[in-house]
Amino acid sequence: MSRRVPIESQRVDAPLTSSATFLVLTVEPGEDATKAVRSALASVADLTKNVAIRDLNASFAVTAGIGSDVWDRVTGLTQPVELHPFKEIKGGKHTAVSTPGDLLFHIRSERRDLNFEFERQLLDMLGDAVKVVDETVGFRYFDVRDLLGFVDGTANPVGSAVDNSVLIAEEDAGAAGGSYVVIQKYVHDIKGWKGMSIEQQESVIGRTKLENVELDDAPDGKQQSHKSLATIEDDDGNEYDILRDNMPFGSPGSKEFGTYFIGYSRRLWVIEKMLERMFVGEPPGLHDRILDYSTPLTGTTFFVPSATTLASLE
Ligand code: HEM
Repeated sequence: MSRRVPIESQRVDAPLTSSATFLVLTVEPGEDATKAVRSALASVADLTKNVAIRDLNASFAVTAGIGSDVWDRVTGLTQPVELHPFKEIKGGKHTAVSTPGDLLFHIRSERRDLNFEFERQLLDMLGDAVKVVDETVGFRYFDVRDLLGFVDGTANPVGSAVDNSVLIAEEDAGAAGGSYVVIQKYVHDIKGWKGMSIEQQESVIGRTKLENVELDDAPDGKQQSHKSLATIEDDDGNEYDILRDNMPFGSPGSKEFGTYFIGYSRRLWVIEKMLERMFVGEPPGLHDRILDYSTPLTGTTFFVPSATTLASLE
């Protein structure tokens, strides 16, 4: 009789922290690079322990994602059923661009120095096997507000709903315990945004600014808020949540004001549907007004395998 080995997930459900680093890498060609990457991915758990022990109160956690283009080469495993590169979405006015990225490391904790240390040790280990495509350091802004001034993350699933929204189960046994993750690095036109009244801003987002109270959906056929466009229901009225860990980033000195969007989901199609509703609009033409003040510089999809799968890559 075979014994069932429990599958352990990566810490996709780790709490929002006051600091996070989003590191996107491409893998260089060649067998040596493949080997180095496999070995580094298999070491993520040990590397995490090395750093986490330095401050047990800092909620240090890392999730590692792998892109579709290098999946076969790096893992030697069957691709998760829905995995494919980020598909560009061209709306009437705004485009969700698709940009390169083979590996994602989402590094978070209450301490910037711990995140820095993990990234340093990781990149030492990877050496010439990778190129850094983007490194963004996010920070908490007051009561989890984005730089548009709104509380961001409220509608995230909590408790047992998290696993159900985020982790693949029996529908794709080979990928069980894993999760799809999509990232987009947005920069804001803060001057333009601040040119609107608070009421106008609230109707763009779909929540009040100060108290974070949800506003009613607009009638069908009219301009919908961001919140309504990002709500996905099937024909039976079942709602499909995703888990967002967005972080502000930027620097007033260089006039950079951004939101790093990161969404985890058990179903990639749910995030893609949200993006389509935002960029194309529902009905088409009535795009998400948040995009008139927010431009994505990147767009990349990865799969976060279970910790068990990651550890087996050695
Ligand atoms: C809701 C900000 C991009 C998906 C919200 C809310 C804010 C916000 C303030 C309302 C509070 C909350 O529930 O969190 C932003 C900003 C973005 C951005 C500043 C980038 C400029 C995206 C993208 C997606 C997305 C790209 C999906 C692909 C969602 C979802 C909700 C939400 C699912 C919750 C909807 C509900 O109420 O059920 N966002 N968002 N957001 N956003 Fe975004």
